Amino acid sequence: MWLITVLWLITTAVCGQSVTVYGTGRTAQLWYDDKPYIILGGELGNSSATCADDIERVFAKAQRQGLNTVLVPAYWDLLEPTEGEYDFTLTEAALRIAREHELHIVFLWFGAWKNSMSCYAPVWVKQDWHRFPRAMTEQGKPLEIVSVFSAALLEADSRAYRAWLEHIAEMDRDYGTVLMVQIENEIGMLESARDHSAKAEEAYRNPVPEPLMSYLQRHKNELHPWLQDKWTSAGGRVTGTWQDVFGNDIYTDEIFMAWYYANYVEQLAELTRDIYPVPVYVNAAMNSRGRVPGEYPSAGPLAHLIDVWHAGAPSLLCLAPDLYDSDFPQWVAQYALWNNPLFIPEVQRNDNSGVRALYVVGEYHALGFSPFSIEDGSDAPEAPLYRAYNLLRELMPIISDEHYWGTMHGLLFDQEHSERVITEEEMTITCRHYLTLPWDSRATDGSTWPEGGAILIRLDRDAYLLAGSGIVVDFAMTTEKSLAEHSATLGEDGFLLADGTPPTATDSGSTFVGRRKGIASVAEVTVSDDGHLTPVRYLNGDQTHQGRHVRISIDDYTLLYIQLYEYQ
Ligand code: DGJ
Repeated sequence: MWLITVLWLITTAVCGQSVTVYGTGRTAQLWYDDKPYIILGGELGNSSATCADDIERVFAKAQRQGLNTVLVPAYWDLLEPTEGEYDFTLTEAALRIAREHELHIVFLWFGAWKNSMSCYAPVWVKQDWHRFPRAMTEQGKPLEIVSVFSAALLEADSRAYRAWLEHIAEMDRDYGTVLMVQIENEIGMLESARDHSAKAEEAYRNPVPEPLMSYLQRHKNELHPWLQDKWTSAGGRVTGTWQDVFGNDIYTDEIFMAWYYANYVEQLAELTRDIYPVPVYVNAAMNSRGRVPGEYPSAGPLAHLIDVWHAGAPSLLCLAPDLYDSDFPQWVAQYALWNNPLFIPEVQRNDNSGVRALYVVGEYHALGFSPFSIEDGSDAPEAPLYRAYNLLRELMPIISDEHYWGTMHGLLFDQEHSERVITEEEMTITCRHYLTLPWDSRATDGSTWPEGGAILIRLDRDAYLLAGSGIVVDFAMTTEKSLAEHSATLGEDGFLLADGTPPTATDSGSTFVGRRKGIASVAEVTVSDDGHLTPVRYLNGDQTHQGRHVRISIDDYTLLYIQLYEYQ
Protein backbone atom coordinates (compact mmCIF):
# COMPACT_ATOMS: atom_id res chain seq x y z
CA MET A 1 0.00 0.00 0.00
CA TRP A 2 2.71 2.48 0.93
CA LEU A 3 4.47 1.90 -2.38
CA ILE A 4 1.38 3.18 -4.07
CA THR A 5 1.03 6.14 -1.75
CA VAL A 6 4.58 7.26 -2.47
CA LEU A 7 2.89 9.17 -5.21
CA TRP A 8 -0.84 8.64 -5.40
CA LEU A 9 -1.01 10.85 -8.40
CA ILE A 10 -4.63 10.85 -9.22
CA THR A 11 -6.28 13.01 -11.77
CA THR A 12 -10.00 13.04 -11.31
CA ALA A 13 -10.71 15.60 -13.93
CA VAL A 14 -9.79 16.30 -17.48
CA CYS A 15 -10.70 19.98 -17.32
CA GLY A 16 -11.53 20.20 -13.60
CA GLN A 17 -9.60 19.75 -10.38
CA SER A 18 -7.39 16.91 -9.28
CA VAL A 19 -6.87 15.08 -6.00
CA THR A 20 -3.37 13.94 -5.18
CA VAL A 21 -1.79 12.28 -2.19
CA TYR A 22 1.91 12.96 -1.76
CA GLY A 23 4.07 11.07 0.69
CA THR A 24 3.49 7.96 2.71
CA GLY A 25 2.11 7.05 6.11
CA ARG A 26 2.38 9.91 8.55
CA THR A 27 3.96 12.16 5.95
CA ALA A 28 1.09 11.73 3.46
CA GLN A 29 -0.59 14.94 2.44
CA LEU A 30 -3.73 15.51 0.44
CA TRP A 31 -3.52 18.10 -2.33
CA TYR A 32 -6.46 19.44 -4.27
CA ASP A 33 -6.24 21.72 -7.27
CA ASP A 34 -2.50 22.08 -6.69
CA LYS A 35 -2.94 23.26 -3.10
CA PRO A 36 -2.65 21.37 0.20
CA TYR A 37 -6.02 20.33 1.52
CA ILE A 38 -7.05 19.15 4.98
CA ILE A 39 -10.50 17.63 5.21
CA LEU A 40 -12.36 19.84 7.69
CA GLY A 41 -15.20 17.41 7.64
CA GLY A 42 -18.35 16.13 9.21
CA GLU A 43 -20.17 12.87 8.51
CA LEU A 44 -23.91 12.89 8.02
CA GLY A 45 -26.14 10.69 10.11
CA ASN A 46 -27.06 7.53 8.27
CA SER A 47 -30.51 8.58 7.07
CA SER A 48 -29.74 12.23 6.33
CA ALA A 49 -29.06 11.93 2.62
CA THR A 50 -32.18 10.03 1.64
CA CYS A 51 -34.07 12.99 0.14
CA ALA A 52 -33.00 16.16 -1.67
CA ASP A 53 -34.71 18.49 0.83
CA ASP A 54 -32.71 17.03 3.70
CA ILE A 55 -29.50 17.22 1.69
CA GLU A 56 -30.18 20.91 1.02
CA ARG A 57 -30.85 21.60 4.70
CA VAL A 58 -27.86 19.74 6.08
CA PHE A 59 -25.38 20.94 3.44
CA ALA A 60 -26.41 24.56 4.05
CA LYS A 61 -25.81 23.98 7.73
CA ALA A 62 -22.49 22.25 7.06
CA GLN A 63 -21.33 25.36 5.25
CA ARG A 64 -22.34 27.50 8.23
CA GLN A 65 -20.49 25.08 10.50
CA GLY A 66 -17.26 25.89 8.66
CA LEU A 67 -16.79 22.51 6.95
CA ASN A 68 -15.04 22.19 3.62
CA THR A 69 -16.13 18.55 3.12
CA VAL A 70 -19.13 16.42 3.99
CA LEU A 71 -19.03 12.64 4.27
CA VAL A 72 -22.22 11.45 2.62
CA PRO A 73 -23.74 7.95 2.48
CA ALA A 74 -24.63 6.43 -0.89
CA TYR A 75 -27.23 3.71 -0.39
CA TRP A 76 -27.12 0.61 -2.59
CA ASP A 77 -30.77 -0.28 -1.83
CA LEU A 78 -32.03 3.14 -2.95
CA LEU A 79 -29.69 3.21 -5.94
CA GLU A 80 -30.74 -0.17 -7.31
CA PRO A 81 -34.19 -0.99 -5.91
CA THR A 82 -34.80 -3.32 -8.84
CA GLU A 83 -31.92 -5.38 -10.13
CA GLY A 84 -30.20 -3.65 -13.04
CA GLU A 85 -32.24 -0.42 -12.77
CA TYR A 86 -30.41 2.49 -11.24
CA ASP A 87 -31.70 5.67 -9.67
CA PHE A 88 -29.00 8.32 -9.36
CA THR A 89 -31.27 11.08 -8.05
CA LEU A 90 -29.68 11.33 -4.60
CA THR A 91 -26.11 11.29 -5.88
CA GLU A 92 -26.95 13.99 -8.41
CA ALA A 93 -28.63 16.09 -5.72
CA ALA A 94 -25.65 15.69 -3.38
CA LEU A 95 -23.19 16.80 -6.06
CA ARG A 96 -25.28 19.78 -7.15
CA ILE A 97 -26.05 20.99 -3.63
CA ALA A 98 -22.47 20.51 -2.42
CA ARG A 99 -21.24 22.79 -5.20
CA GLU A 100 -23.86 25.40 -4.35
CA HIS A 101 -22.49 25.44 -0.80
CA GLU A 102 -18.80 25.26 -1.76
CA LEU A 103 -18.40 21.85 -0.18
CA HIS A 104 -16.55 18.75 -1.26
CA ILE A 105 -17.86 15.25 -0.78
CA VAL A 106 -16.40 12.02 0.47
CA PHE A 107 -18.96 9.41 -0.54
CA LEU A 108 -19.53 6.40 1.72
CA TRP A 109 -20.50 3.37 -0.32
CA PHE A 110 -23.06 1.60 1.88
CA GLY A 111 -23.04 -1.55 -0.25
CA ALA A 112 -22.82 -5.14 0.88
CA TRP A 113 -22.03 -4.27 4.51
CA LYS A 114 -22.70 -1.44 6.91
CA ASN A 115 -21.67 -1.94 10.56
CA SER A 116 -21.16 -5.61 9.65
CA MET A 117 -24.77 -6.04 8.56
CA SER A 118 -26.14 -6.21 5.02
CA CYS A 119 -28.90 -3.71 5.81
CA TYR A 120 -28.21 -1.56 2.75
CA ALA A 121 -28.21 -4.48 0.30
CA PRO A 122 -31.36 -4.19 -1.85
CA VAL A 123 -34.21 -6.40 -0.78
CA TRP A 124 -33.78 -8.53 -3.93
CA VAL A 125 -30.37 -9.46 -2.53
CA LYS A 126 -31.62 -9.99 1.02
CA GLN A 127 -34.46 -12.25 -0.05
CA ASP A 128 -32.44 -14.45 -2.37
CA TRP A 129 -30.35 -16.38 0.15
CA HIS A 130 -29.74 -19.19 -2.33
CA ARG A 131 -27.96 -16.82 -4.69
CA PHE A 132 -26.48 -14.70 -1.91
CA PRO A 133 -25.76 -17.10 0.95
CA ARG A 134 -25.64 -15.77 4.49
CA ALA A 135 -22.71 -15.83 6.87
CA MET A 136 -23.35 -18.32 9.67
CA THR A 137 -22.38 -18.74 13.28
CA GLU A 138 -20.69 -21.91 14.47
CA GLN A 139 -24.13 -23.17 15.51
CA GLY A 140 -25.39 -22.79 11.93
CA LYS A 141 -27.49 -19.67 12.60
CA PRO A 142 -27.77 -17.59 9.39
CA LEU A 143 -27.00 -13.91 9.96
CA GLU A 144 -28.23 -10.65 8.44
CA ILE A 145 -24.74 -10.58 6.93
CA VAL A 146 -24.32 -11.79 3.38
CA SER A 147 -21.29 -14.09 3.23
CA VAL A 148 -18.09 -12.62 1.79
CA PHE A 149 -17.56 -16.05 0.25
CA SER A 150 -20.48 -15.41 -2.11
CA ALA A 151 -19.11 -14.66 -5.59
CA ALA A 152 -22.59 -13.47 -6.55
CA LEU A 153 -22.45 -10.77 -3.86
CA LEU A 154 -19.18 -9.35 -5.16
CA GLU A 155 -20.56 -9.42 -8.67
CA ALA A 156 -23.79 -7.62 -7.73
CA ASP A 157 -22.16 -5.12 -5.36
CA SER A 158 -19.40 -4.24 -7.82
CA ARG A 159 -21.85 -3.95 -10.73
CA ALA A 160 -23.87 -1.36 -8.81
CA TYR A 161 -20.69 0.35 -7.61
CA ARG A 162 -19.41 0.52 -11.17
CA ALA A 163 -22.65 2.03 -12.51
CA TRP A 164 -22.71 4.57 -9.66
CA LEU A 165 -19.09 5.56 -10.12
CA GLU A 166 -19.41 5.84 -13.90
CA HIS A 167 -22.29 8.22 -13.31
CA ILE A 168 -20.22 10.23 -10.84
CA ALA A 169 -17.32 10.34 -13.29
CA GLU A 170 -19.63 11.76 -15.93
CA MET A 171 -21.12 14.36 -13.58
CA ASP A 172 -18.03 15.31 -11.64
CA ARG A 173 -15.17 15.18 -14.10
CA ASP A 174 -15.25 18.92 -14.73
CA TYR A 175 -15.80 19.86 -11.10
CA GLY A 176 -13.84 17.52 -8.83
CA THR A 177 -16.41 17.74 -6.03
CA VAL A 178 -15.77 14.14 -4.94
CA LEU A 179 -12.52 13.85 -3.00
CA MET A 180 -12.51 10.25 -1.84
CA VAL A 181 -14.73 7.20 -1.53
CA GLN A 182 -15.11 4.99 1.52
CA ILE A 183 -15.73 1.39 0.50
CA GLU A 184 -18.47 -0.25 2.61
CA ASN A 185 -18.76 0.79 6.26
CA GLU A 186 -17.27 -0.82 9.35
CA ILE A 187 -16.88 -4.24 7.77
CA GLY A 188 -16.60 -7.17 10.17
CA MET A 189 -18.22 -10.35 11.46
CA LEU A 190 -20.49 -10.14 14.48
CA GLU A 191 -21.71 -12.90 16.79
CA SER A 192 -18.91 -15.14 15.56
CA ALA A 193 -15.25 -14.35 14.90
CA ARG A 194 -15.61 -15.93 11.48
CA ASP A 195 -18.14 -17.10 8.97
CA HIS A 196 -19.03 -20.81 9.32
CA SER A 197 -21.12 -21.15 6.15
CA ALA A 198 -20.25 -24.11 3.87
CA LYS A 199 -17.97 -22.10 1.54
CA ALA A 200 -16.27 -20.41 4.49
CA GLU A 201 -15.55 -23.77 6.13
CA GLU A 202 -14.02 -25.04 2.92
CA ALA A 203 -11.77 -21.97 2.62
CA TYR A 204 -10.75 -22.33 6.25
CA ARG A 205 -9.59 -25.91 5.70
CA ASN A 206 -7.41 -24.84 2.74
CA PRO A 207 -3.83 -23.62 3.04
CA VAL A 208 -3.28 -19.92 3.73
CA PRO A 209 -3.24 -18.38 0.23
CA GLU A 210 0.23 -17.92 -1.22
CA PRO A 211 -0.06 -14.11 -1.79
CA LEU A 212 -0.65 -13.57 1.93
CA MET A 213 2.15 -15.92 2.95
CA SER A 214 4.64 -14.34 0.61
CA TYR A 215 3.59 -10.83 1.71
CA LEU A 216 4.21 -11.74 5.34
CA GLN A 217 7.60 -13.20 4.54
CA ARG A 218 8.64 -10.19 2.47
CA HIS A 219 7.65 -7.82 5.26
CA LYS A 220 8.47 -10.00 8.24
CA ASN A 221 10.71 -7.42 9.93
CA GLU A 222 8.19 -4.63 9.73
CA LEU A 223 4.92 -6.37 10.55
CA HIS A 224 2.62 -5.02 13.24
CA PRO A 225 4.07 -6.39 16.52
CA TRP A 226 0.82 -8.17 17.31
CA LEU A 227 0.88 -10.17 14.07
CA GLN A 228 4.60 -10.78 14.25
CA ASP A 229 4.13 -12.23 17.72
CA LYS A 230 1.11 -14.33 16.78
CA TRP A 231 2.85 -15.83 13.77
CA THR A 232 6.13 -16.47 15.62
CA SER A 233 4.42 -17.98 18.65
CA ALA A 234 2.60 -20.40 16.37
CA GLY A 235 5.97 -21.57 14.99
CA GLY A 236 6.56 -19.08 12.15
CA ARG A 237 5.53 -21.61 9.47
CA VAL A 238 5.47 -20.39 5.89
CA THR A 239 2.92 -22.87 4.58
CA GLY A 240 -0.03 -24.72 6.01
CA THR A 241 -3.65 -24.19 6.97
CA TRP A 242 -4.75 -21.10 8.87
CA GLN A 243 -4.44 -23.01 12.12
CA ASP A 244 -1.02 -24.41 11.18
CA VAL A 245 0.35 -20.96 10.48
CA PHE A 246 -1.37 -18.83 13.11
CA GLY A 247 -2.56 -21.26 15.81
CA ASN A 248 -5.99 -22.33 16.86
CA ASP A 249 -7.96 -19.45 18.36
CA ILE A 250 -10.49 -16.80 17.46
CA TYR A 251 -7.76 -14.39 16.43
CA THR A 252 -6.76 -16.83 13.71
CA ASP A 253 -10.41 -16.82 12.66
CA GLU A 254 -10.18 -13.05 12.54
CA ILE A 255 -7.04 -13.05 10.37
CA PHE A 256 -8.75 -15.49 8.01
CA MET A 257 -11.81 -13.25 7.64
CA ALA A 258 -9.70 -10.11 7.26
CA TRP A 259 -7.94 -11.63 4.28
CA TYR A 260 -11.22 -12.38 2.50
CA TYR A 261 -12.83 -9.03 3.36
CA ALA A 262 -9.70 -7.23 2.12
CA ASN A 263 -9.72 -9.21 -1.13
CA TYR A 264 -13.34 -8.25 -1.68
CA VAL A 265 -12.69 -4.55 -1.01
CA GLU A 266 -9.70 -4.60 -3.34
CA GLN A 267 -12.01 -5.45 -6.25
CA LEU A 268 -14.02 -2.26 -5.64
CA ALA A 269 -10.86 -0.24 -5.07
CA GLU A 270 -9.50 -1.36 -8.42
CA LEU A 271 -12.76 -0.41 -10.12
CA THR A 272 -12.40 3.06 -8.63
CA ARG A 273 -8.91 3.36 -10.04
CA ASP A 274 -10.19 2.41 -13.49
CA ILE A 275 -13.33 4.56 -13.49
CA TYR A 276 -12.81 7.63 -11.31
CA PRO A 277 -9.44 7.48 -9.62
CA VAL A 278 -10.00 9.22 -6.32
CA PRO A 279 -8.37 7.77 -3.19
CA VAL A 280 -10.34 5.04 -1.43
CA TYR A 281 -10.21 3.93 2.20
CA VAL A 282 -12.02 1.68 4.66
CA ASN A 283 -13.23 2.52 8.17
CA ALA A 284 -13.17 0.41 11.31
CA ALA A 285 -15.22 0.01 14.47
CA MET A 286 -12.75 -0.24 17.35
CA ASN A 287 -11.87 -3.40 19.25
CA SER A 288 -12.38 -1.55 22.50
CA ARG A 289 -13.78 -2.17 25.99
CA GLY A 290 -12.18 -5.59 26.37
CA ARG A 291 -14.28 -7.20 23.65
CA VAL A 292 -13.07 -10.13 21.55
CA PRO A 293 -13.56 -10.75 17.81
CA GLY A 294 -17.24 -11.30 17.11
CA GLU A 295 -18.17 -9.13 20.10
CA TYR A 296 -16.60 -6.29 18.12
CA PRO A 297 -16.77 -6.51 14.31
CA SER A 298 -14.16 -9.22 13.79
CA ALA A 299 -11.67 -8.75 10.94
CA GLY A 300 -12.44 -5.12 10.22
CA PRO A 301 -9.60 -2.84 9.08
CA LEU A 302 -8.12 -2.69 12.57
CA ALA A 303 -4.57 -1.68 13.46
CA HIS A 304 -3.48 -5.17 14.55
CA LEU A 305 -4.66 -6.55 11.18
CA ILE A 306 -3.02 -3.84 9.07
CA ASP A 307 -0.64 -6.23 7.31
CA VAL A 308 -3.41 -8.60 6.30
CA TRP A 309 -5.39 -5.65 4.92
CA HIS A 310 -2.33 -4.26 3.13
CA ALA A 311 -1.64 -7.63 1.57
CA GLY A 312 -5.26 -8.18 0.51
CA ALA A 313 -6.17 -4.63 -0.50
CA PRO A 314 -3.04 -2.84 -1.71
CA SER A 315 -5.04 -0.13 -3.50
CA LEU A 316 -6.40 1.43 -0.31
CA LEU A 317 -5.05 4.75 0.87
CA CYS A 318 -5.59 3.95 4.54
CA LEU A 319 -7.40 2.13 7.31
CA ALA A 320 -9.41 4.79 9.10
CA PRO A 321 -10.57 4.57 12.73
CA ASP A 322 -14.06 5.52 13.92
CA LEU A 323 -13.43 6.92 17.39
CA TYR A 324 -16.14 6.86 20.03
CA ASP A 325 -14.19 5.52 23.02
CA SER A 326 -12.42 7.32 25.83
CA ASP A 327 -8.67 7.86 25.62
CA PHE A 328 -8.82 9.48 22.21
CA PRO A 329 -5.02 9.99 21.92
CA GLN A 330 -4.33 6.31 22.50
CA TRP A 331 -6.67 5.25 19.65
CA VAL A 332 -5.35 7.89 17.30
CA ALA A 333 -1.76 6.76 17.90
CA GLN A 334 -2.65 3.23 16.80
CA TYR A 335 -3.66 4.44 13.33
CA ALA A 336 -1.06 7.18 12.67
CA LEU A 337 1.63 4.80 11.46
CA TRP A 338 4.63 4.89 9.20
CA ASN A 339 2.55 2.83 6.76
CA ASN A 340 -0.89 4.35 7.42
CA PRO A 341 -1.86 7.99 6.98
CA LEU A 342 -4.30 9.17 9.62
CA PHE A 343 -7.81 10.02 8.50
CA ILE A 344 -10.65 10.09 11.03
CA PRO A 345 -13.95 9.72 9.16
CA GLU A 346 -16.02 9.40 12.33
CA VAL A 347 -15.44 10.73 15.79
CA GLN A 348 -17.92 11.44 18.54
CA ARG A 349 -19.21 14.98 18.13
CA ASN A 350 -18.84 16.94 21.38
CA ASP A 351 -17.41 20.15 22.81
CA ASN A 352 -13.91 18.71 22.58
CA SER A 353 -14.15 18.17 18.80
CA GLY A 354 -12.44 21.48 18.04
CA VAL A 355 -9.28 20.90 20.07
CA ARG A 356 -9.11 17.28 18.93
CA ALA A 357 -9.10 18.40 15.30
CA LEU A 358 -6.15 20.69 16.03
CA TYR A 359 -4.35 17.94 17.91
CA VAL A 360 -4.52 15.30 15.15
CA VAL A 361 -3.38 17.72 12.47
CA GLY A 362 -0.58 19.14 14.63
CA GLU A 363 0.70 15.85 16.00
CA TYR A 364 0.04 13.46 13.12
CA HIS A 365 -0.56 15.54 9.97
CA ALA A 366 -4.02 13.97 9.72
CA LEU A 367 -5.57 14.09 6.27
CA GLY A 368 -8.86 15.04 7.85
CA PHE A 369 -11.21 14.96 10.79
CA SER A 370 -14.95 14.41 10.74
CA PRO A 371 -17.36 14.33 13.70
CA PHE A 372 -20.32 12.02 13.17
CA SER A 373 -23.90 13.18 12.75
CA ILE A 374 -22.63 16.66 12.02
CA GLU A 375 -26.07 18.01 11.15
CA ASP A 376 -27.03 17.68 14.84
CA GLY A 377 -24.14 19.92 15.91
CA SER A 378 -24.17 23.66 16.43
CA ASP A 379 -23.73 26.09 13.55
CA ALA A 380 -23.10 29.05 15.85
CA PRO A 381 -19.89 31.00 15.18
CA GLU A 382 -18.82 30.34 18.78
CA ALA A 383 -19.06 26.53 18.35
CA PRO A 384 -15.63 24.96 19.12
CA LEU A 385 -15.51 23.01 15.86
CA TYR A 386 -16.25 26.10 13.79
CA ARG A 387 -13.53 28.06 15.56
CA ALA A 388 -10.98 25.25 15.28
CA TYR A 389 -11.72 24.71 11.58
CA ASN A 390 -11.25 28.45 11.02
CA LEU A 391 -7.83 28.24 12.64
CA LEU A 392 -6.90 25.24 10.52
CA ARG A 393 -8.12 26.94 7.34
CA GLU A 394 -5.94 29.94 8.16
CA LEU A 395 -2.94 27.84 9.06
CA MET A 396 -3.18 25.65 5.95
CA PRO A 397 -0.37 27.39 4.01
CA ILE A 398 1.96 27.11 7.00
CA ILE A 399 1.01 23.62 8.14
CA SER A 400 1.45 22.23 4.68
CA ASP A 401 4.84 23.71 4.10
CA GLU A 402 7.13 20.72 4.38
CA HIS A 403 9.74 22.97 5.92
CA TYR A 404 7.79 23.04 9.18
CA TRP A 405 6.89 19.39 9.43
CA GLY A 406 9.70 18.54 11.76
CA THR A 407 8.78 21.26 14.23
CA MET A 408 5.00 20.97 14.50
CA HIS A 409 3.32 19.43 17.55
CA GLY A 410 -0.26 18.72 18.49
CA LEU A 411 -1.21 19.26 22.13
CA LEU A 412 -4.23 17.80 23.90
CA PHE A 413 -4.90 17.98 27.63
CA ASP A 414 -7.60 17.03 30.06
CA GLN A 415 -7.76 16.99 33.83
CA GLU A 416 -5.82 13.75 34.11
CA HIS A 417 -3.21 14.42 31.43
CA SER A 418 -2.53 18.09 31.92
CA GLU A 419 1.14 18.62 31.04
CA ARG A 420 3.63 17.75 28.33
CA VAL A 421 7.26 18.79 28.14
CA ILE A 422 8.73 19.09 24.64
CA THR A 423 12.50 19.14 24.35
CA GLU A 424 13.76 20.36 21.03
CA GLU A 425 17.29 21.47 20.22
CA GLU A 426 18.23 24.00 22.93
CA MET A 427 14.62 24.46 24.13
CA THR A 428 12.44 22.93 26.80
CA ILE A 429 8.83 23.89 26.22
CA THR A 430 6.38 23.11 28.99
CA CYS A 431 2.80 22.95 27.74
CA ARG A 432 -0.15 22.64 30.12
CA HIS A 433 -3.88 22.75 30.36
CA TYR A 434 -5.08 26.30 30.94
CA LEU A 435 -6.80 25.27 34.16
CA THR A 436 -3.48 24.30 35.73
CA LEU A 437 -3.30 28.03 36.39
CA PRO A 438 -4.42 28.09 40.00
CA TRP A 439 -6.29 31.39 39.85
CA ASP A 440 -9.11 30.40 37.49
CA SER A 441 -11.95 29.27 39.76
CA ARG A 442 -12.96 26.56 37.27
CA ALA A 443 -9.65 24.85 38.05
CA THR A 444 -10.76 23.82 41.49
CA ASP A 445 -14.52 24.33 41.84
CA GLY A 446 -15.35 20.78 40.76
CA SER A 447 -16.08 21.67 37.11
CA THR A 448 -15.13 19.04 34.58
CA TRP A 449 -12.32 20.55 32.59
CA PRO A 450 -13.03 20.84 28.89
CA GLU A 451 -10.11 19.48 26.88
CA GLY A 452 -7.48 22.04 25.93
CA GLY A 453 -5.55 21.64 22.72
CA ALA A 454 -3.42 23.39 20.17
CA ILE A 455 -0.94 23.24 17.33
CA LEU A 456 2.52 24.53 18.19
CA ILE A 457 4.81 25.35 15.27
CA ARG A 458 8.38 26.54 15.50
CA LEU A 459 8.91 28.99 12.67
CA ASP A 460 12.55 29.74 13.41
CA ARG A 461 14.95 29.74 16.34
CA ASP A 462 13.01 32.28 18.38
CA ALA A 463 9.58 32.38 16.71
CA TYR A 464 6.58 30.14 17.34
CA LEU A 465 2.94 29.93 16.35
CA LEU A 466 0.39 28.63 18.84
CA ALA A 467 -3.16 28.00 17.62
CA GLY A 468 -5.75 26.57 19.95
CA SER A 469 -7.78 26.82 23.10
CA GLY A 470 -7.21 26.17 26.82
CA ILE A 471 -3.39 26.12 26.78
CA VAL A 472 -0.44 27.60 28.71
CA VAL A 473 3.10 27.39 27.34
CA ASP A 474 6.42 28.23 29.04
CA PHE A 475 9.51 28.59 26.89
CA ALA A 476 12.95 28.02 28.41
CA MET A 477 16.46 26.97 27.48
CA THR A 478 16.97 23.36 28.54
CA THR A 479 20.00 24.40 30.60
CA GLU A 480 18.03 27.14 32.31
CA LYS A 481 15.23 24.72 33.05
CA SER A 482 17.44 22.14 34.70
CA LEU A 483 19.33 24.72 36.75
CA ALA A 484 16.43 26.83 37.85
CA GLU A 485 13.69 24.27 38.53
CA HIS A 486 11.90 24.83 41.79
CA SER A 487 8.48 24.22 43.24
CA ALA A 488 7.20 27.74 43.84
CA THR A 489 3.61 28.36 42.74
CA LEU A 490 2.80 31.90 41.79
CA GLY A 491 -0.55 33.67 41.88
CA GLU A 492 -1.99 35.69 39.05
CA ASP A 493 -0.11 38.76 40.29
CA GLY A 494 3.16 36.84 40.13
CA PHE A 495 3.64 36.81 43.90
CA LEU A 496 4.26 33.59 45.79
CA LEU A 497 0.97 32.06 46.88
CA ALA A 498 0.42 32.11 50.63
CA ASP A 499 0.63 28.31 50.82
CA GLY A 500 3.38 28.01 48.16
CA THR A 501 6.91 26.81 48.85
CA PRO A 502 9.64 29.36 48.16
CA PRO A 503 12.60 28.13 46.08
CA THR A 504 15.75 27.33 48.02
CA ALA A 505 19.37 27.32 46.99
CA THR A 506 19.33 23.52 46.80
CA ASP A 507 16.27 23.51 44.51
CA SER A 508 17.98 25.56 41.90
CA GLY A 509 21.62 24.63 42.36
CA SER A 510 24.00 27.00 44.02
CA THR A 511 24.82 29.31 41.10
CA PHE A 512 22.84 30.05 37.98
CA VAL A 513 24.86 29.81 34.80
CA GLY A 514 23.94 30.10 31.14
CA ARG A 515 21.42 32.08 29.15
CA ARG A 516 17.68 32.43 29.55
CA LYS A 517 14.82 32.84 27.10
CA GLY A 518 12.35 35.66 27.51
CA ILE A 519 9.21 36.65 25.66
CA ALA A 520 9.85 39.60 23.33
CA SER A 521 6.24 39.84 22.12
CA VAL A 522 3.02 37.88 21.71
CA ALA A 523 0.63 38.92 18.96
CA GLU A 524 -2.69 37.59 17.82
CA VAL A 525 -2.24 37.27 14.06
CA THR A 526 -4.03 36.42 10.83
CA VAL A 527 -2.43 34.41 8.02
CA SER A 528 -2.83 35.31 4.36
CA ASP A 529 -3.11 32.69 1.59
CA ASP A 530 0.61 32.89 0.94
CA GLY A 531 1.45 32.37 4.63
CA HIS A 532 2.14 36.03 5.50
CA LEU A 533 1.36 36.94 9.15
CA THR A 534 -0.38 40.18 10.10
CA PRO A 535 -0.72 41.24 13.75
CA VAL A 536 -4.24 42.03 14.96
CA ARG A 537 -3.48 42.87 18.59
CA TYR A 538 -0.70 42.36 21.12
CA LEU A 539 -0.99 40.41 24.37
CA ASN A 540 1.19 41.62 27.22
CA GLY A 541 1.18 42.42 30.94
CA ASP A 542 -1.38 40.31 32.77
CA GLN A 543 -2.18 38.40 29.56
CA THR A 544 1.36 36.93 29.50
CA HIS A 545 1.73 36.81 33.28
CA GLN A 546 4.16 39.75 32.93
CA GLY A 547 6.24 37.90 30.33
CA ARG A 548 6.34 34.52 32.08
CA HIS A 549 4.20 32.44 29.72
CA VAL A 550 1.89 32.40 26.70
CA ARG A 551 -1.67 31.31 27.19
CA ILE A 552 -5.03 30.91 25.52
CA SER A 553 -8.06 30.65 27.77
CA ILE A 554 -10.53 27.77 27.54
CA ASP A 555 -13.04 30.37 26.35
CA ASP A 556 -11.00 31.42 23.30
CA TYR A 557 -9.72 29.94 20.05
CA THR A 558 -6.77 32.05 19.02
CA LEU A 559 -3.73 32.08 16.79
CA LEU A 560 -0.67 33.63 18.45
CA TYR A 561 2.72 34.57 17.07
CA ILE A 562 5.38 34.41 19.77
CA GLN A 563 8.74 36.12 19.48
CA LEU A 564 11.37 35.07 22.03
CA TYR A 565 14.78 36.52 22.88
CA GLU A 566 17.80 35.44 24.93
CA TYR A 567 19.48 37.14 27.85
CA GLN A 568 22.16 36.52 30.37
C1 DGJ B 1 -20.51 3.95 13.39
C2 DGJ B 1 -21.08 3.80 12.01
O1 DGJ B 1 -20.04 3.74 11.06
C3 DGJ B 1 -22.02 4.93 11.66
O2 DGJ B 1 -22.57 4.72 10.40
C4 DGJ B 1 -23.09 5.01 12.72
O3 DGJ B 1 -23.83 3.84 12.74
C5 DGJ B 1 -22.43 5.25 14.05
N1 DGJ B 1 -21.53 4.17 14.38
C6 DGJ B 1 -23.49 5.41 15.15
O4 DGJ B 1 -22.92 5.71 16.33
